[in-house]
Amino acid sequence: MMKIGPVSLASPFAVAPMAGMTDTAFRRLVKRHGGCGLVVTEMVSSEGLIRGIDRTLEYAEYTQEERPVSIQIFGGDPDKMAAAAQVVEGMGADIVDVNMGCPVPKIAKHNAGCSLMREPSHAASVIAAMTRAVKIPVTVKMRAGWNDDERNAPVLARMVQDAGASAVAVHGRTAAQSYSGRADWDLVARIAHDLTIPVFGSGDCVEPHQIIERMDAGVTGVLVGRGVLRNPWILAQASDLAAGRPARTVTLEDRGQFLLDYIDLLVHERVDEARAVTHDRWVINKLRALASWYTKGFENGSHLRTRINSAESLAELRAIVYEFFWRSEPMPACAAAS
Ligand SMILES: Cc1cc2nc3c(=O)[nH]c(=O)nc-3n(C[C@H](O)[C@H](O)[C@H](O)COP(=O)(O)O)c2cc1C
Repeated sequence: MMKIGPVSLASPFAVAPMAGMTDTAFRRLVKRHGGCGLVVTEMVSSEGLIRGIDRTLEYAEYTQEERPVSIQIFGGDPDKMAAAAQVVEGMGADIVDVNMGCPVPKIAKHNAGCSLMREPSHAASVIAAMTRAVKIPVTVKMRAGWNDDERNAPVLARMVQDAGASAVAVHGRTAAQSYSGRADWDLVARIAHDLTIPVFGSGDCVEPHQIIERMDAGVTGVLVGRGVLRNPWILAQASDLAAGRPARTVTLEDRGQFLLDYIDLLVHERVDEARAVTHDRWVINKLRALASWYTKGFENGSHLRTRINSAESLAELRAIVYEFFWRSEPMPACAAAS
């Protein structure tokens, strides 16, 4: 069993933070399928946490069954990040993670996200302020660097370790690359060999055996992002392989049930009613967002995606899922009505 500070992880495989995607309902379902040692929330604003903005607090919500949970925050001011870390600690999270990887200009221009990598001393002072302010472990998620001329993750990783970080995760692409090209796992492995704290790698694992291969390169753990959105069983399958078993098979019905369960959890989710959209519309939009990833890589996936995008009600959404995954069988009346 590996540890981040005092926090034990039952598995070295984790769900990577993904804004707009890895909400509490999704994380719970992934966790229920097994193999997942850690979940990280979508990134939340340090300012929003300090000011107690409802929407920010909502993004940071989690349930007990997701533990251990890491709440990821973004921001660039050491005092505010320390205050936000205290809010995270007060919310009972196991870990507070700092986003130093987001390349989106809206975040990066506020001296947050990946732009922190351009000022390593300042980035380290953010971590030092946070580790002074809270008892829970502070971790950092970064990229390989800002661009090809500034691939400074090895230097920054060491600096945040010295500033008190309990673990780092490295997505092996630069901010300039965004999601193009391939993640540089050699760089990630070098950092893992160089540091004494746990180092997680992230990038391009879409098959369970790739997770195992990355582990073999010497990282402490692997954060899987888009691969989990395509295949929520990927961490469980990687655990099977790690234990010397064949990876479990996932049937078409399993895949359909996942979507139905996700709809049901979202329907019961508390969301800010003051929003412009109704709760049903919010659930439909969430399913559309997941479907754009989930439908990749299996037969007729694009057809399902198109149909989900045209659904106007929850009943229609459920019927589409039934028809697609259970083929000719009609939807039971109780499922249609609920
Ligand atoms: C839709 C989406 C949203 C993301 N949001 C975040 C985020 O909020 N915080 C973060 O640190 N990384 C974020 N990432 C990056 C992922 O955590 C991960 O490092 C990256 O996608 C590479 O891993 P993968 O190839 O397994 O997806 C996001 C990625 C995607 C695709």
